Amino acid sequence: MSKEIVVSGIRSTGHLHLGNYFGAIQNYVLMQENYDCYFFVADYHSLTTHPDPKDLKANVFRVVAENIASGLNPDKVALYAQSDVPEIPELYLMLNMLAYVGELEKVPTFKEKVRTQPENVNAGLLTYPVLMAADILIHRAVKVPVGKDQEQHLEMARNFAVRFNNRYGNFFPEPQVFRFNNDTVKIMSLDGSGKMSKSENENNTIYLSDSDDTIRKKIMKAKTDAGPIAPNTEMPDYIQNLFLLMHLASRKEIVDIYRSQYNNCNIRYGDMKKQLAEDMAAFVRPIREHATELQKDETTLRMILKEGAEKARASASVTIEGARKLIGINYY
Ligand code: TYM
Repeated sequence: MSKEIVVSGIRSTGHLHLGNYFGAIQNYVLMQENYDCYFFVADYHSLTTHPDPKDLKANVFRVVAENIASGLNPDKVALYAQSDVPEIPELYLMLNMLAYVGELEKVPTFKEKVRTQPENVNAGLLTYPVLMAADILIHRAVKVPVGKDQEQHLEMARNFAVRFNNRYGNFFPEPQVFRFNNDTVKIMSLDGSGKMSKSENENNTIYLSDSDDTIRKKIMKAKTDAGPIAPNTEMPDYIQNLFLLMHLASRKEIVDIYRSQYNNCNIRYGDMKKQLAEDMAAFVRPIREHATELQKDETTLRMILKEGAEKARASASVTIEGARKLIGINYY
């Protein structure tokens, strides 16, 4: 039986963090054995914010290195750069004809950008979900491992797939969100002000490239409060997030101790954070060290990207050929 097709991508804007790791990469690593996986660096998507051309290559190579250091095996998956697969922008163009300006303007991530960067509301931002749909549909994927923040985009990808199918004939499956663990769909920023994110709020984001000391400092400053005053009180979200991080990085007995202290109103957050800082530093250390090593070996990274692009194009070209025919671009 052929394996189910999986696609997911990470934008190459800034260093990867615990949200990317637990919300996405950990699922990639678990899926690589049993699915036909296409994982890519969304370098075209990163252009919406006009990054310095000098930085692009290092950004892309770092994302590749951090994925491999996290356990992704390029022999088992197609690991590639979006810009190495020209079939993606071709499908993007086709899907743009089926996407309505009105629906794109209503997307919350677009509205947020209009609010936060009014000086750069470009058409690429507006059609961001269409490019994302092209990334997914180009391999006719059925499963897409992503965090909570990407769910709305995935819903749009399904809409575009259905619209294409209705107009031209059944061709694209409807891709669904996939994850092994619902706890990690949204890792919060350490100050409790929304999700951990690559480009905002650096002091409250733990990056896979952070040193042990940086991790310690950031965790020791994480938001807490005076503690619960009644037994078994529901946790505020920023405390819940610390417990989640502890659950991900520490041994179960340790989490149980602090959880029971919380429930008995005798928790000392300073002690908890010290423990969490050590365990998280130990968790990130091997990933950081391996990623640093990999980034020194550009030849290997280049080869991995080339091979990944070949695998991706083999699949993408079949889809594009089929889509062209259905649309009627079939002249010779
Ligand atoms: P990006 O680069 O912002 O994030 C990459 C992946 O990490 C997840 N993620 C999180 N999960 C939990 N908690 C967080 N705090 C957190 N922050 C990020 C994201 O949900 C994502 O899975 N538009 C996408 C990239 C993309 C893509 C695609 C993804 C382009 N085309 C096609 C899937 C399929 C993005 O900007 O992700």
